[in-house]
Amino acid sequence: MGESRVTSPDEPLRVLIPAEAIRRRVRELGEEIALHYGDRTPVFVGVLKGAVVFLADLIRAVEVPLECDFIAVSSYGARSRPSGIVKLTADLAASVEERDVLIVEDIVDTGRTLAYLQRNLETRQPRSVRVCTLLDKAARREVPVTLHHVGFTIPDEFVVGYGLDYGGRYRNLPHIAVLDLAGWAGDLTTPVG
Ligand code: IMP
Ligand code: MG
Repeated sequence: MGESRVTSPDEPLRVLIPAEAIRRRVRELGEEIALHYGDRTPVFVGVLKGAVVFLADLIRAVEVPLECDFIAVSSYGARSRPSGIVKLTADLAASVEERDVLIVEDIVDTGRTLAYLQRNLETRQPRSVRVCTLLDKAARREVPVTLHHVGFTIPDEFVVGYGLDYGGRYRNLPHIAVLDLAGWAGDLTTPVG
């Protein structure tokens, strides 16, 4: 596989969800979502940047008319000490008034980002707001959120790949991997290859 060009052999990565398992699950999610919306032409709102890879595959698995838009948020504070403050850094291109919105997320962790997005989008008079997330780190939830379509529930570990990053890296891995930095002495800021 081409993985050796994305990561170096000594990096503390372990495959959690292989590409083929993702492919199969995305197909199922697509069918689930199509069944729900029928011919209502939902607007899929991809949350930048992490959800881009998932969204690109997901929309091709949904065999009903749909539209796409994007929104970007950032969380202040270090991951280890989250402030819980979420800020909108890029807004949708179009109004979602009277539209059926499907938020497409890569991962729901504490739930703070999603809770903010749901609140924000609800103020725009949409017809409905639902959520599809590839990954659910359910054990980490701090804010209750309703997830309508979930790809995989995963344990409390930091994961990368298939859109998810660590410091901007690893988004192009075709699978989901656990990044275990505890006790690792290497330097991930050094470019590989
Ligand atoms: P929240 O804690 O649910 O608000 O999640 C905030 C954001 O943290 C997510 O949208 C991701 O961008 C990021 N995040 C949370 N867990 C992980 C992880 O395991 N890997 C990569 N990014 C993560
Ligand atoms: Mg991220």
